[in-house]
Amino acid sequence: MKTYSLLTLALMGVFVSCRQETGSDTEMKQKVDSLLSVMTLEEKAGQLTLFTSGWDVTGPVMREEYRQDIASGRCGNLLNAHGVSYNRELQKLAVEESRLGIPLLFGYDVIHGFKTIFPIPLAEACSWDTALVRKTAALSAREAAAAGLNWTFNPMVDLCRDPRWGRIAEGSGEDPLLGSMMAAARVKGYQGTDLSDPFTLAACVKHFAAYGAPEGGRDYNTVDMSERVLREIYLPPYKAAVDAGVASLMTSFNELDGIPATGNRFLLTEILREEWGFEGMVVTDYTSINEMIPHGYARNLKHAGELALSAGVDMDMVGAVFYNHLEESLEEGKITEEMINRSVRRVLEMKYKLGLFDDPFRYLDEEREDSILFAPGLMEHALESARKSIVLLENKPFGGKPVLPLPENLNRIALIGPLAHSRIDMLGTWHASGDTTKVVTLKEGLENQFPNTQILHARGCSVNGTDRSGFGDALSAAMRSDVVVVAVGEYFMQSGEAASRAMPVIPGIQEELVDMLLNTGKPVVVVVMAGRPLILTELAAKTPALVYAWHLGTRAGDAIADILSGEYNPSGKLVVSFPWSAGQIPVYYNHKNTGRPMHPLQKYTSKYLDIPNNPRYPFGYGLSYTTFEYSGLQLSDTLMTMNGSLKVSVQVKNTGEYAGEETVQLYVRDLVGSVTRPVKELKGFRKVWLEPGEETTVTFTLSPDDLKFYTVDMQFAAEPGEFKVFAGGSSVDVLEAGFTLK
Ligand code: GLC
Repeated sequence: MKTYSLLTLALMGVFVSCRQETGSDTEMKQKVDSLLSVMTLEEKAGQLTLFTSGWDVTGPVMREEYRQDIASGRCGNLLNAHGVSYNRELQKLAVEESRLGIPLLFGYDVIHGFKTIFPIPLAEACSWDTALVRKTAALSAREAAAAGLNWTFNPMVDLCRDPRWGRIAEGSGEDPLLGSMMAAARVKGYQGTDLSDPFTLAACVKHFAAYGAPEGGRDYNTVDMSERVLREIYLPPYKAAVDAGVASLMTSFNELDGIPATGNRFLLTEILREEWGFEGMVVTDYTSINEMIPHGYARNLKHAGELALSAGVDMDMVGAVFYNHLEESLEEGKITEEMINRSVRRVLEMKYKLGLFDDPFRYLDEEREDSILFAPGLMEHALESARKSIVLLENKPFGGKPVLPLPENLNRIALIGPLAHSRIDMLGTWHASGDTTKVVTLKEGLENQFPNTQILHARGCSVNGTDRSGFGDALSAAMRSDVVVVAVGEYFMQSGEAASRAMPVIPGIQEELVDMLLNTGKPVVVVVMAGRPLILTELAAKTPALVYAWHLGTRAGDAIADILSGEYNPSGKLVVSFPWSAGQIPVYYNHKNTGRPMHPLQKYTSKYLDIPNNPRYPFGYGLSYTTFEYSGLQLSDTLMTMNGSLKVSVQVKNTGEYAGEETVQLYVRDLVGSVTRPVKELKGFRKVWLEPGEETTVTFTLSPDDLKFYTVDMQFAAEPGEFKVFAGGSSVDVLEAGFTLK
């Protein structure tokens, strides 16, 4: 029988009253303060400690004894534990065994789904559909919360211009505006309007900051950039998440300007707290406090903990640094009680907002768990999201007409390639607890979509091997078929964390397999599945039909089959540039003009001898089965005043045979600034659905706020001068006009 001190019982009375009150901020702060006033230093360190359960390990494990740590109040938060019965058992330990009964946070990497898996975030961003993305996050939260989770380590919003970096898969590409819109959509999707809603999760924007810009595209490597590039390009998506009310933020592994992000006061206090007013909780990445020692920034773990807490970190993920050294650091005066209380308060407030003090078991309902996993709405949305994430890169005439969409009356389709019938690879990186048994492969998708067609399947080769013994069967299947579909690319672990690739090409001998199939003279459709842009230069030149299908999740096969059959007219647009070669990286659309912009006929201009300057496939690019014609770009005025605005309108017409969705994009260029400015910047986009022959006018509003940048004296302001405006279906295929800002 547990005994409680009078003081604790009095306090428990406070909790009992919690259970009957939802409370306002004032009440929350009163109750958190009263809890703080009776917590021991060890219990405070416990609230700043996040340990991993032994289930899904996403990094080195520092302590196995997390159960006794929970019972003693020395671990107040857990990651990688899920399932109602398991989490209920652990929550009971915290609430009934520990002295103060403070409930646990249960965090997990719900990145693109929990059991039902949606397209990897980079793919889904190619939908340019923030409502769709928000719904994906909301459905992911619903399924994960039903399994006893209350916190996700997402959205990952690291902007990235480098396909060598494997974690490009987890973000939303190379543009600050699009990345910001996707960040906000995911935060709102996960968190809903009330964090205590048991069908929502607290979100965690990550990895702060600029983790997506490691030198050489090598994960965890050094990041160094000007403050102007940091603020103008890399910070906006984190700020968008903060402005959207994200409950927590995760520090990144990398250093920035010589200081590891986890000990970086400029980032964690000056920008995040003082400039942006973030009031949520800051958690480190996995042992990133400890890693300040190899960074060469901390002498030892105690010093690392002092640097982290002083910089603005609240919770230590797995490192056990606060767990082991907080008391000593406080005794030595290296940190203060106020610092500790500030951080504990943020953790307790997050738990309060989640409703955990009101009911620690609100996310732990076995009946709910069974009724929600794989609910029909999830599988339907998984298909819709996958369809809209697919980007059609090529659809050239073959034998007089485009290969795609495939006709219905085919006798045989040869389906070749190592990714044609693979379940786990469809789920991509960070697929949480995705259930591979529910995955629809491309083979199954084609069988579903072409019931009267024989699908001849031959693997041909593996993703990474050099064994050509399967080529014969593949050739035989192709020769007996009307059309060949070949599915090649990366397996699911070839992108994501610790998966950088110096040569981001289609691995192994898969391109040899494609060449062999192209040489049959049959119409060939190449479907590339990957977690990053790959170098497709030779393949694209030879292939009549090229479909980029990323890693699309549970309904991948159905979505790709819907595109190949024309059931769904592809509408995806790239959110990251595809290079001609690794030597071209980084290549991105919003680049500077330089003093010697490329001129094909002039030697002494900025160009390569062996490849073009432009990317193989540009930002914003994606084909449809129909064609969209742009005309009549008009401005309401050619003069904009500092307190005015102007309208930009453009006509878009569906000039083809298929109804389809187009993403109309608006870009601007500031021709002269107190610092040089990019040749284009995305300032807006609109999605329109047009029937064949239908035309519409799309109108945008531009104001000086859209033209602000960090000027020479680092003021965020618009400067008078000449501007160009561009509108079109990609960042290169655009109409142009101009205006003056006075
Ligand atoms: C990993 C990742 C981070 C993830 C965390 C917990 O190392 O960097 O994105 O949320 O650890 O799994």
